[in-house]
Amino acid sequence: METQVIDQMGRGLRDLRISVTDRCNFRCTYCMPKEVFGAGYRYLNRTELLSFEEIERLVRIFAGYGVRKIRFTGGEPLVRRDLEQLIRMVLSVPGIEDVSLTSNASLITQERAASLYEAGIRRINVSLDAMDDQTFMAINDVGASVQSVLDGIAAAQSAGIAGVKVNAVIKQGVNEHAILPLVEQFRGSGVILRFIEFMDVGNHNGWDKSSVISSREILKTISEQHPLEPVDANYHGEVAQRWQYIDGAGEIGVISSITQPFCGGCHRARLSAIGQLFTCLFASEGTDLRAWLRDGSTDDQIDQRLRQLWQRRDDRYSEIRFTEPMANRQKVEMSYIGG
Ligand code: GTP
Ligand code: 5AD
Ligand code: SF4
Ligand code: SF4
Repeated sequence: METQVIDQMGRGLRDLRISVTDRCNFRCTYCMPKEVFGAGYRYLNRTELLSFEEIERLVRIFAGYGVRKIRFTGGEPLVRRDLEQLIRMVLSVPGIEDVSLTSNASLITQERAASLYEAGIRRINVSLDAMDDQTFMAINDVGASVQSVLDGIAAAQSAGIAGVKVNAVIKQGVNEHAILPLVEQFRGSGVILRFIEFMDVGNHNGWDKSSVISSREILKTISEQHPLEPVDANYHGEVAQRWQYIDGAGEIGVISSITQPFCGGCHRARLSAIGQLFTCLFASEGTDLRAWLRDGSTDDQIDQRLRQLWQRRDDRYSEIRFTEPMANRQKVEMSYIGG
């Protein structure tokens, strides 16, 4: 039976983002810089990770609050063995309507795309920050080519995964020149390109305010070439603001966490690969749900504690990031909760 749960700001719980691994085959400088995530870095081992059964059990409980959307993230979710099995398990939970992935797409071969489709995936969001190899390789820092990502997208589409979005994080001095080439690549292709303002996630990405290119600037750059008009949100609390090309070449989006925070509509919770629940992308601490799963707690007991947790929630980091007490606080890493 579904009973909603509401936080201190009147927000329900609708989406759950689940990180299934802290590993990735890329080392994006803003997410997993090599200096930190190098040879000596200790990744989680298998017994630390939540098992598929544990994830499914939590999803059942979350579905009871009205959670309809599950997004698997990482690191790179496709490096988790047998991910398709987990996708099937989660899609079979009553109430779950949408299961999608946020991936770098470089591991999506034709075969993998077919197995993801067969497991029930119809949408994926792919990260791609430039159309030239020089810039893209400098960002991913492992020599992955733009073509490897485009091939992954093409494989997904040809397998029937029709809902492809591309996320591009734009950082001052790094890839603002990539805005228009990305636009030209994806205009008219059916892929929805979204530009993300560079955010101060984690502690290692060297963020500062001057490295942010605002959505306003990005939209201005694009609309000078291809005029745009706004489109209504698909759902209340959608992260991206939608725009469409006036000439009918499709839709783009901007995600403006820095300049136009959207905490008021934030119905998302994030679960790390080891079962820590974070009620905000910028939280310092999570709640250890794995301990509850492994100490013999019943579903009812876990349900009660989760309800209390959500009812106490007052997170709105993006709205208050520039206020004093927030500065220099330790935050959870992006690769740990998957963005
Ligand atoms: P759909 O709308 O379901 O397609 O997915 P999405 O846009 O929520 O997911 P995606 O993983 O593609 O996220 C795109 C970007 O938005 C990432 O950089 C996320 O970190 C960022 N993002 C998503 N949710 C939030 C949020 O609650 N707060 C902030 N500040 N950023 C978010
Ligand atoms: N700011 C904005 N977006 C980021 N991403 C990773 N790090 C950052 C950051 N500091 C994006 C990735 C991916 C999504 C999950 O988050 O590019 O598309
Ligand atoms: Fe991997 Fe995505 Fe982080 Fe890049 S941004 S290192 S692709 S998890
Ligand atoms: Fe939600 Fe935190 Fe992002 Fe605000 S900053 S939208 S509360 S995740």
